[in-house]
Amino acid sequence: MKKLFIKTYGCQMNVYDSARMADLLAPLGYGMALEPDDADMVILNTCHIREKAAEKMYSDLGRLRRLKEQKSEAGGSLLIAVAGCVAQAEGAEIIARQPAVDMVVGPQSYHRLPEMIARISRGAGSALETDFPAEDKFDHLPEENAHQGAAAFLTVQEGCDKFCTFCVVPYTRGAEFSRPVAQVEAEARRMVEAGAREITLLGQNVNAYRGAGPDGEMWGLAQLIRRLANIDGLSRLRYTTSHPRDMGDDLIAAHSEVEKLAPYLHLPVQSGSDKILAAMNRGHTADEYRRLVARIREGRPGLALSSDFIVGFPGESDADFTATLNLIRDVTFVQAFSFKYSPRPGTPAASSEKQIPEDVKNARLYELQELLFAQQCEFAETCKDQVFSVLLEKPGKKHGQALGRSPYLQPVHVADAAHLIGQVHDVRIAAVLRNSLKGVLANEAETMAAAQ
Ligand code: 5AD
Ligand code: SF4
Repeated sequence: MKKLFIKTYGCQMNVYDSARMADLLAPLGYGMALEPDDADMVILNTCHIREKAAEKMYSDLGRLRRLKEQKSEAGGSLLIAVAGCVAQAEGAEIIARQPAVDMVVGPQSYHRLPEMIARISRGAGSALETDFPAEDKFDHLPEENAHQGAAAFLTVQEGCDKFCTFCVVPYTRGAEFSRPVAQVEAEARRMVEAGAREITLLGQNVNAYRGAGPDGEMWGLAQLIRRLANIDGLSRLRYTTSHPRDMGDDLIAAHSEVEKLAPYLHLPVQSGSDKILAAMNRGHTADEYRRLVARIREGRPGLALSSDFIVGFPGESDADFTATLNLIRDVTFVQAFSFKYSPRPGTPAASSEKQIPEDVKNARLYELQELLFAQQCEFAETCKDQVFSVLLEKPGKKHGQALGRSPYLQPVHVADAAHLIGQVHDVRIAAVLRNSLKGVLANEAETMAAAQ
C-alpha cells in the first residue's frame, strides 16, 4: 500500500478538493499518511488569495525537496504535486523555481492526476495540467466520498464573474459554474448515508448558484437548499461564501422558512466606505448592505453574521477606514476574517498608485480586529446558559470530552460526551472561554424548554 499526504491551504473549497483527490487516488492504492515523512506522494493544495500563502508553499517545497533527496538516498521515492490556485496561476513557473516538483495541477483539472502519475512513473518527466478542460471534472471523480465525518463540505458552485479589483479568483478559478441539482443531491445523500449530519454547500460565489434542475429549469441556491432540506438524517445546512449582490428574495425567504438552514450567514462586505466599495467593484454601497442585513434578520431574528474585511485597500483614507468601523458597529458580527490588502499581480488594484504604507495597514488591522473580537466576545457572553443543538464532531483533548460546533460555528467542548460523537445533541452552555464555549449535555427538561 502506498501512502499519500495532502496539505491544504486556504479556503473550505480546497478542503473539499483535497478530500476528492484522496478519493481519486484511493483506487491507485494510496492510503492516507499522517505526515509527509511516511508518504510516497505529497500534494500541496495551495491558495493564491494573499501573498503569504504562496510564500509558505515555496518554503514547504524546500523541505519536501530535502525529504525527497533523503528518500531517494535510502532507495525510496517521493512524488511531489502542487495543486490548487497557485498551481493554476504560476503553472510551469513552480517547476522552474523548485525542480523537485513532479506535477502541477489546477483546480479544474485534478481529475487527471491518475494519468499524470502514470506518465511520471513511465519516466516521461514532470507533468503540468492547468487548462480549464472542456470536460467537467465532477463527471470524472469517483462517486465514493472519503468519509468526511459528521460535518461535511460539498462544492456546488465554482468560479466567479464578479471581478472585485483586488481578487485573483476570477483568474484562477475561472467563470461561474454550477453543478446540476441531481448531482449535488446524490452526493449529499451519499454523505448523509456515510454519517454526515451537517452539510456546508460551498462555492466562491455560492449564492450565485444556478444549476440545472430536474425539471429542466435553472434552479437557484434557495431551491437547492429546500430540496436538500428534505433529506432524512440531515440536521443542518450551511452555505459559504456569498456575495451581497446575489442575496435574492427567495434566499432571504429560505432563511426564515427552512428550519434546517443554520441561523448564521457569512456575508463578506470588505469595507464600509462607499468610495472604497466602488473602487473594489463590489456593486453595492454600505447602506445597501445594512438594509440587506436588516431584511434577512427581519425574517430570521437572531441570525448571526460573519464577514470578510480588507484594510488598506489602495486609496483608503482615515475617513474610509472609520466608515468600516462604523459599519461593524451598526451591523455587529459574531465572527469575521480580516486581512491587510495584498496586491495580487494581474488584478486592477495592484497597479494603483495609491498603495497604503504597511505601518498604516498594520495599525488599521489591529484596530479593526480589536473591535471585531470585542463583538465576538459580547456575543459569546449572550450564549451563556442557552441550550443549543450542537453537532459533536470529534474527541476533545480531555478524556471523554467531545468537540463540536454551536449553530453559530463556535467551538464547544462537552464533557462526558465522547460516546455521542457524530450526533447532534442539545447542550447547555455552562461557561464562555476566550475562543470557545464549555457545554454540558442538556437534561430532558432543558431540551424541552429549548424546543418551545
Ligand atoms: N488582499 C487581501 N485580502 C484579500 N481577499 C481576497 N483578495 C485579497 C487581497 N488581494 C480576502 C477578501 C475575500 C477573502 C476570501 O479574502 O476579504 O473575501
Ligand atoms: Fe473574489 Fe469578489 Fe469573486 Fe469573491 S466575489 S471571489 S472577492 S472577485
